Parts: sequence; C-alpha cells; structure tokens
Amino acid sequence: PVPPFTLVIFGATGDLAQRKLLPALFHRDLAGQLPDEGSIIGTSRRDLSDEEFQAFARKAIADHVPSHELEDEALGRFLNRLSYVSTDAGSDRGWDKLGERLSGEGGPIRVFYLATGPDLFGPICQRIGSHGFVDEHTRVVVEKPIGKDLESARAVNDAVGKVFPEESVYRIDHYLGKETVQNLMALRFANALFEPVWNAAHIDHVQITVAESLGLEGRAGYYDTAGAMRDMVQNHILQLLCLVAMEPPTSIAADSVRDEKLKVLKSLVPIDSTNAAALTVRGQYRAGASAGGAVPGYLEELGAPSSRTATFVALKAEIANWRWAGVPFYLRTGKRLASRVSEIVVTFRKIPHSMFGSDAGDIESNRLVIRLQPDEGVKLWLMIKDPGPGGMRLQHVPLDMTFAEAFKARNPDAYERLILDVVRGNQTLFMRRDEVEAAWTWVDPIIDAWRDTTEGPKPYTAGTWGPSAAIALIERDGRTWYEDG
Ligand code: BG6
Repeated sequence: PVPPFTLVIFGATGDLAQRKLLPALFHRDLAGQLPDEGSIIGTSRRDLSDEEFQAFARKAIADHVPSHELEDEALGRFLNRLSYVSTDAGSDRGWDKLGERLSGEGGPIRVFYLATGPDLFGPICQRIGSHGFVDEHTRVVVEKPIGKDLESARAVNDAVGKVFPEESVYRIDHYLGKETVQNLMALRFANALFEPVWNAAHIDHVQITVAESLGLEGRAGYYDTAGAMRDMVQNHILQLLCLVAMEPPTSIAADSVRDEKLKVLKSLVPIDSTNAAALTVRGQYRAGASAGGAVPGYLEELGAPSSRTATFVALKAEIANWRWAGVPFYLRTGKRLASRVSEIVVTFRKIPHSMFGSDAGDIESNRLVIRLQPDEGVKLWLMIKDPGPGGMRLQHVPLDMTFAEAFKARNPDAYERLILDVVRGNQTLFMRRDEVEAAWTWVDPIIDAWRDTTEGPKPYTAGTWGPSAAIALIERDGRTWYEDG
C-alpha cells in the first residue's frame, strides 16, 4: 500500500471524478494498494450528505467498472473511505468544515485534486492557502487545460505557485500514465538495441497519430474554445513526441526526465504565419458514419451555424538538434475519424543497397510501431525470407508483442497509476511548469497563423481519416501514413 493519505477531490460530482477518479481509486483499493488510513473527501458546490455522495460514487463505479470486478464487500469498504463537504470556490462557505474534516481524518499526506474548470484553480488554491491547509506533505493535482495560450497558462501557474511550491504541483497529462507510454521509456532505455540507431542517421521519419472515433461527447462548450490543437497537440501529442525524441535522462528521477523533455520542446522549429500553410492542415468533420451508424457533423453537434474550430490537425514538425535535424515528425489527431487508434511509428531508413535482385520483391523499411490503444503492444516490422523452396523472395512481417496476449493481467487505467504517484510523491509522470509553457510557446504562433488567414478548416466526412490535404502533407514528401497490417 501507499502511505496513509487524505485526498480531497474538488469537482467531486463532475464528469472526471465520475468516469475516471472514483473508478481508478476503487481499482487500486481492490488491488490492496490503499492503506487503512486512506480517506477521500469529495467536495463541490452541490449540497450532499456523506451518504448521498457515497451513493453517487457507487453508481459511478457501477457504471464504469466491469461487473465481474465489482465485489460487494470491496465496494462497501471503498465507499466507507468517502465523505463529502460542500464548499464554494468563490466564498468562504464550507471551508471551515473542510478544515475540521481534514484535521480529523486520514494520514499526513494531503492531496488536493482540482478536477474543476481551470477558472477555479486560482480561487481554490488561494483558499486552500488562506485556510492553512498546506504543509510540507501537501500536494495539489491540476488537470488540463492549463490555460488556452502562454499568457493564460502563466496566470494559472502563477496562481497555483503562490500557494504551492513546484515540488508539490502535479500537472496531469493522463497520456503519461498509459502503460504503453511508460513502455516507450523502457523500450528505449532498457534495451541496447534501439538507442544506437535512434537518430537522423538511421531514422527516416516518425509519425504520431491519436485518432478518435468519438465526437463531442457533450463537451461542445469547452471544445469549441479549444479545438484539436489545444485539446490534444499542446499536451498529449507533444508529450509523446518528447518521450520519443529526448536524450537519455541520467535517471528516472522527475527532473532528470523533465529536463530532457524540456530541451526537446525548446528545439522544435517554430511554425508561424510564414510556414503554417505548408506544414499544417486543419479539418472539421461533416456528417458521416461512425461505428454505431450515421453521425451528425461538428456544427450540428455544436448547434451553431458556423465555427472555425478544428476537430482535426495534422502537422509536420521538426526538431533542430544534432540527433534529429532533418527528420520529420508527422503528427495528427482528430475526432470522428475512421477508428480509435493511437500509435507512434518510427520508420527507419532504407538499406543502402539490395543484393537480392528484382525477383525478391520490394525491400521495405524497418518500422517500430508502439501502439498505445486499443490492443496495446509493440510491433517491429522486419524483412524475412518467404518460407519455402521458391527461391529468395522477401516479405515484410511484424515481430508482434500484443500485451494482452503476452501479459494476462488487466491493463490499469492511466489515472490509477497517476493518483498513486501523487501520494507517493513521484513527479516523473507529471508536467513541470516550464514544459507546459514551452509547449504553449510552440503552439501559440500556429494558432495565431490560423486565426489570421481567411481560410477555415477543411471539411472531412465523419468516419474517414480526415481531409485529403492531410494525406497530401505526408505524400508530398514521398511517405504515407502508417496503416496497420
Ligand atoms: C482528453 C481530451 O484530454 O483526452 C479529450 O480532452 C479526448 O477530447 C481524450 O477525448 C482522449 O483520451 P483517451 O485516453 O481516451 O485517449
């Protein structure tokens, strides 16, 4: 088990608590990782009794945890850890009561989880500070979005930083908690095989795709102010890019890893109004078909006659340093695409000379595919000889390690790992302030360039791979987007 703790969830009746936090905590309790003195206090503006909050949590867990994992006894034990205090971020209502609960419960480690809108981060931190809830064992967890540009991100970081020193601030990017993302570090730095060839001399290009088949999922209000660039690229995709591209950290210690990620972000070649048209593609979905049948277009879902918000982005990024100069990183993400798939594809350079002659067939590049979801795993595409007596014909085949087959254990959700890391005081999988700000520094001029053109995002049909311009973006360079199989 982790050390004794008290976790206070702000926004405890919200979507994130319901879908992710409560189910994740329950799973960790089930696995025996929560200590006896581990208590969870929910808080939000709503007036609820402890019992009502427990009933709310029971339903959230039943809705999001498969029924075969729901043991009555375990659920009862977990719900007993929960209590509720109603507070108001904008006034002193409820804060003294929260203080009483805090002094009466749990262990010395206090975690304040801000699962609220970003406009409340500052006011909540200020009240946490002014009520004297902070000591050296106190931590705060901040969810995205951290701002909508560099200036607002700084304001959020300043407000949080007035109350909490950087060593106590845990900025969540849930992609860093995904098993396969952590595996990227294991793959690169626990094997002798890859690192010597992990550079421009041997790698032709890298692709990072985070494709979703879902649409707005009731988040239209937020999403229309964000779009794919702020929602996915500024955080998740750039974090993945950092883990692929960073120099080997000296240790797994938080700052050792974060120092290296920061260098990557600072080495990204700027994209602005001078080159955005050549290096970026924006799209917005129109009505089409998704797995479940016909789906409406973005504007219909939004209920607005017009919007220039991009629900799809493809970019060609470059990292200006010795390791990566000249290697394109093609990034793409979008809603309502053909399927839900997130993967990192590293394509190696072609062999310099083939001794096999034309009868052997094409010799394709080696590719390392790290699939984040669904069916997590790693594939290494190699050329081998076609089995049989028919002469020397070559085939491109994957060495395939699908985790579900290789490891029978259930794959924990990212939040399970991340929440416990906060209690343990391990910041490695959390973003440091300067990383978040460096990411915005690269993203802002791209968004500005889009704002300043008359052209809007290109339409694409829901259920496809985005606008054809995204295919042209990579094909212009004589390359194609990776398709499994
Ligand atoms: C969130 C975005 O950060 O990540 C959502 O705000 C997106 O728009 C989600 O759907 C994707 O996460 P996952 O874990 O389902 O790939």
